[in-house]
Amino acid sequence: MEQGFEKMNIQWFPGHMTKAQRMIEENIKLVDAVCEILDARIPNASRNPDIDKLAGDKPRLVILNRCDLADPEATARWHRYFQSQGLAILETDAKSGRGVGGFVPAVRALLQDKLKEYESKGQVGRGLRVMILGIPNVGKSTFINKVAGRKAAIAGDKPGVTRGKQWINIDRGLDLLDTPGILWPKFESQEVGELLAITNAIKADVIDKETLCANFMLRLQTYYPDALRSRYKLEPQPDCNGFELLELAAQKRGFLISKGEYDLERMANTLLKEYHEGKLGRLTLETPDD
Ligand code: G4P
Repeated sequence: MEQGFEKMNIQWFPGHMTKAQRMIEENIKLVDAVCEILDARIPNASRNPDIDKLAGDKPRLVILNRCDLADPEATARWHRYFQSQGLAILETDAKSGRGVGGFVPAVRALLQDKLKEYESKGQVGRGLRVMILGIPNVGKSTFINKVAGRKAAIAGDKPGVTRGKQWINIDRGLDLLDTPGILWPKFESQEVGELLAITNAIKADVIDKETLCANFMLRLQTYYPDALRSRYKLEPQPDCNGFELLELAAQKRGFLISKGEYDLERMANTLLKEYHEGKLGRLTLETPDD
């Protein structure tokens, strides 16, 4: 654990997540390819660490979604990283639809051998089938709706809400298998849990929000000091711990509880809200080098 960061206790083990994992294992044989939708701000933390095992030898496409909220330079680095792993990659902002139009051509390019194989076997009507995977709240429903061009998947805004699997027909040549948003039973590290909580993939309520935000402030000070300057009028304070930074921000905002005491909880809620709204700028919270 990096120096200065506070230890937190994050435990999150909903039974339906393991059930969903099993469902992928049972259904992988039905599809030609696997498409992982990742949050471009946390491409590693939003990635299922079991994906290599789960996907087996199926061709894979990685979608870096929420590109509108991510640092473009960091996204370009992640793009190169996934490419170097031999994965097809697409950058999208499913909310506005930017980049989503590249999905069907990317799938066809990825599976051109499969298409030829179906053709040579006379299976002309056999469409391609792609499993869509992603953690809760990554934008899976929004993405599928945009690809399908209609309200195909039910968009839910509650982290952790899952739906059963369903097939979505895009056109005569392509079917998507939507799976419930899944997280893994155990976080690889506290950092992964924190990044998921900051970006709203898990409810920040299940953990100590002030500690989460104290660590978030340290992260911002290290990687995006300009965001702290412009949003909270805060110059880098190398000697401060995360709580002190949070308190300084609360001071700048005037979140006074009583004489000399500032409301850290209010500041933590404000920080998370403003981050979600993109008011801190386009920030990516991890790099391929991490
Ligand atoms: P899920 O199926 O993976 O659980 O996610 P869902 O599509 O329900 O999307 C969760 C939230 O993320 C939605 O916002 C959705 O609009 C937003 N979203 C999805 N893709 C993107 C993207 O590329 N960029 C941005 N900025 N947002 C995205 P919401 O909180 O339900 O409502 P609203 O903010 O859209 O009003």
